Amino acid sequence: MSPPASDAPPQTALTSRAEVPLFRVRNLSRVFKTGDGETAALRRVSLDIAEGECTLLAGSNGSGKTLLMRCLAGLLSPSSGDIFYRGVPLPLVKDLHRRVGLLFQDPDSQIVGETVGEDIAFGPGNMGLSKAVVRERTESAVRAFGLQDKRDIPPRLLSGGEKRRLAAAGIAAMGCETVIMDEPFANLDYPGVLSVLSVIQSMKDEGKTLVILTHELEKVLALAGRLVILHRGTIQDDGKPEAVLERLRDEWGVRDPRQSYARAKDCSWLGA
Ligand SMILES: Nc1ncnc2c1ncn2[C@@H]1O[C@H](COP(=O)(O)OP(=O)(O)O)[C@@H](O)[C@H]1O
Ligand SMILES: [Mg+2]
Repeated sequence: MSPPASDAPPQTALTSRAEVPLFRVRNLSRVFKTGDGETAALRRVSLDIAEGECTLLAGSNGSGKTLLMRCLAGLLSPSSGDIFYRGVPLPLVKDLHRRVGLLFQDPDSQIVGETVGEDIAFGPGNMGLSKAVVRERTESAVRAFGLQDKRDIPPRLLSGGEKRRLAAAGIAAMGCETVIMDEPFANLDYPGVLSVLSVIQSMKDEGKTLVILTHELEKVLALAGRLVILHRGTIQDDGKPEAVLERLRDEWGVRDPRQSYARAKDCSWLGA
């Protein structure tokens, strides 16, 4: 077992020592006021995420995936509990937004440039880098995410899959070492799904730490080394994907997402 947060050494400098997890989350809770009281949307969540890991965070709608992402990115303060990034408590990590990139569920919400090229250049341009470095990073991201033909067109003309590639290119150009993706397969057709899978593979190849929030496990399971299940704000299971899926099937009666609904009898649970 990992030590509780209170045992963590007081540090202010970010460290890349292998024994310090990239993220250390301890007893994280988030409570919201409701009409007649309070609801705990995240309850005593504890987990470590190691550098270079590709983790799937799954769970039904409302299980707390997006809230946890927002806490990890420093966009939402927990009601109680602690998050450390490379051993440093989150509020003290000043450049967290440069280290941890977010792909929001709706890619339109993070597009700011008039053209694809300008949009990718926006992030590194805000980091005080020289024009030459911004240009070089932008070009490299355009190539890495296959957007060469789209560079000069307005982002609104892109397809859903291309918009997600654009958002990922912007994060890559900023040099984010960790990327959290919220429902990256939402509203995508098959080519769009392939496009996002190629983004995930490219980021893995670059050694980035990935956390992918999805309930569409079957699409991305093959690329993940770990599967964490959230249920009503708590961690229900956590481990190697195959082992977690077996437990889900045996203990919860959840259908294995690797199986397809190819025959009518596979859909018998619909009550048809
Ligand atoms: N600002 C808020 N006020 C009250 N409840 C909220 C707020 N934000 C999220 N919630 C609740 O927290 C739960 C988890 O939400 P969310 O993290 O968005 O779920 P998921 O991403 O797994 O679908 C949901 O029940 C949601 O209604
Ligand atoms: Mg969500």
